[in-house]
Amino acid sequence: MRHFLKETDLSLAEIQSIFAQAALLKSQRGQTKSQDLAQQSWGLLFFKKSTRTRVSFQVGVHELGGLPVMLNADDMQISRGETVADTAKVLSRYLHGMVIRCHEHKLLEDFAQCGTMPVVNALSDFLHPCQFMTDMFTLAERWSKGKPENFASSLKGRKVAFLGDTACNMANSFILGGAALGVEIALAGPAGYEPTAEIKQQLKKDGLKETFTFTTDAAAAVKGADMVYTDVWVSMGMEAEKAERLKTMQPYQVNSKLMALAKPDAYFMHCLPAHPGEEVTAEVLASPQSIIFDQAENRLHVQKAILAHLTRHR
Ligand code: CP
Ligand code: NVA
Repeated sequence: MRHFLKETDLSLAEIQSIFAQAALLKSQRGQTKSQDLAQQSWGLLFFKKSTRTRVSFQVGVHELGGLPVMLNADDMQISRGETVADTAKVLSRYLHGMVIRCHEHKLLEDFAQCGTMPVVNALSDFLHPCQFMTDMFTLAERWSKGKPENFASSLKGRKVAFLGDTACNMANSFILGGAALGVEIALAGPAGYEPTAEIKQQLKKDGLKETFTFTTDAAAAVKGADMVYTDVWVSMGMEAEKAERLKTMQPYQVNSKLMALAKPDAYFMHCLPAHPGEEVTAEVLASPQSIIFDQAENRLHVQKAILAHLTRHR
């Protein structure tokens, strides 16, 4: 049974094939009826809030010919103590696959192990691989000059600067996925928020080298970057640390002055939701360098390609 819990669950060849499929699905949207998930029902289980992931998966399953079943964890017995194992076993009797957004990454692993259907990580405290895949696809669309067969190779050797909370799930996904795809990841954030031991351990487990760099100097990370990325300073579940985080991360705000240090044709990206005036200025969000809404749209196309891939390679 194939799952997509982390970037390294897919080989480079599979990533390339998913990118090509996503480009095709994007170009054909609304014209041909895809039947990849025909006769299937997929559960979308959310323990945390979501706008993009929730809607793009729901629409995506529908557009692939399947039935999306929205499940809010709060409404289910799992939030009253039913075990992950029993939930996974029971839901496997009804559904053909699961998309799960949760706190502890281990819940995804346990669910995948106990159930008998593919599980997709829709964000955990550790990783956000669907977002990372989409971000790389969005860049590859541009850097490969529209040639889907060159998508994965067009990313190799590019420099991505990641600013702010470099210990968060998005930073982890860039560290892990960047190492797998050969993208240079230059992270900058305050001391105390540097890349974690857990992500370094994951790189080791996957046989990947620590190719990322970390600095407390925002300008040094952004210098010569092909893309500048940031994420919220207060991730879901970190609300108690809000005041401290907003103060400490201030020097890492992506503003026009910082963007000017990147390559002149560099892009600005953000997984969203954004907090204008915190991690990024409203000016940068609205600038021609910003591709945040193409990025958000591509969640739909890339996730459809991931679901189709997992279904074909069960
Ligand atoms: N980027 C992202 O995952 O957005 P949502 O939290 O709205 O799903
Ligand atoms: N790091 C953010 C990503 C939101 C898409 C969070 O976990 O809240």
